[in-house]
Amino acid sequence: MNAPIPSPADTALTPNVPRTMRALLQTRYGGADALHVAEVPTPTLTPGLVLVQGVNAALNRGDWHLLTGTPYAVRLAGYGLTRPTRPIPGMAIAGRVMAVGAGVTGFEVGDAVLGEINRGAFAEWVCAEPSALAKKPAGLSFEQAATLPVSGTTALQGLRDAGQLKAGESLLVIGAAGGVGGFGVQLGRHFGAEVTGVCSARNVEVVRLMGAHHVINYTSQRLSEHPGRFDVILDMVGAEPLATLRGLLKPGGRLVSGSGGQDNALFGPMIPILRGLFSNLGSAQRFVPLMNKPTVADLDVLCGLVASGAVTPDISDRLPLDALPAVLDHMGEGHTRGKVVVNLSADPQRSPR
Ligand SMILES: NC(=O)c1ccc[n+]([C@@H]2O[C@H](COP(=O)([O-])OP(=O)(O)OC[C@H]3O[C@@H](n4cnc5c(N)ncnc54)[C@H](OP(=O)(O)O)[C@@H]3O)[C@@H](O)[C@H]2O)c1
Repeated sequence: MNAPIPSPADTALTPNVPRTMRALLQTRYGGADALHVAEVPTPTLTPGLVLVQGVNAALNRGDWHLLTGTPYAVRLAGYGLTRPTRPIPGMAIAGRVMAVGAGVTGFEVGDAVLGEINRGAFAEWVCAEPSALAKKPAGLSFEQAATLPVSGTTALQGLRDAGQLKAGESLLVIGAAGGVGGFGVQLGRHFGAEVTGVCSARNVEVVRLMGAHHVINYTSQRLSEHPGRFDVILDMVGAEPLATLRGLLKPGGRLVSGSGGQDNALFGPMIPILRGLFSNLGSAQRFVPLMNKPTVADLDVLCGLVASGAVTPDISDRLPLDALPAVLDHMGEGHTRGKVVVNLSADPQRSPR
């Protein structure tokens, strides 16, 4: 059965907002064949929301999880048991506010914004909660801004909050070439840590260019060759056994676990998290599960770091909506480099409407 698509009767006719828009639609859980681009009604602006014309969106591994509906636990988290309840995928958006709903304060038409939303980013227009949106400073592009929700905030919270990383400490980032890991390497360097990144041979140079002091190529080197070396590990892959990772930590070290690996289609990271927390008993080292919390304050921090040049998002590809089905499908293989950005429209303030 197909997922519901908003009916034309729901479409707002705000001045300058077209009645329909292009969007990626997900009709069921599956692979590329569950996705197609279609012309659908532009979302209705209701009180309390803002209508954003998307300039760029960015892909996240979470989009792949919601494409496949795995681990199955995500379906129970409100995304729909048998098919997605929100048919337009995409969580990370950057664009311009083009209409402001009744009761909204702090935003004006024309504001450039970015944010993490609960699906809907892979469309030309989206209605968003103002509380999800940060204002984009002029010093970073919409493309760069779209990479920050989810990946940037996860890395920031993983190092600063979960890992309590301090200047002078030694940091290992596993998955250093990926969306979150790329930010992890650069933020770790910004926080004054000595950073080691783990990636495959083809990404060694990229990870070094992002600022890693050392790079471990996991296809030819074993992590277990570095016992007791790290104060903090940011693990965004989940492929190494818990005992191996604990063996890499110094006494008092923190293992920040952001990925449960690929092998549990039912519960995802829940079992590794429970195992990790249990292993804290009687240990001076800490296993800390990482769960991204979208906050505007952290988006502001990240925007500032990008605008100042301290962090430069690694944008590996720029795609039109039509390319997304195949690319999203491949994301599950776990070898996407950096951030893949989606082109939704030109900046409406720069192009005639
Ligand atoms: N906890 C949270 O709140 C949260 C938030 C966001 C994402 N996540 C999870 O974190 C994981 C990573 O997300 P992401 O967006 O960064 O994924 P991604 O962009 O798809 O990146 C995956 C990266 O992992 C690398 N990789 C694969 N196997 C590896 C290995 N054995 N050792 C080292 N690197 C390896 C790949 O590099 P190579 O090609 O070089 O192998 C690739 O660049 C996913 O499982 C995602 O679901 C969790």
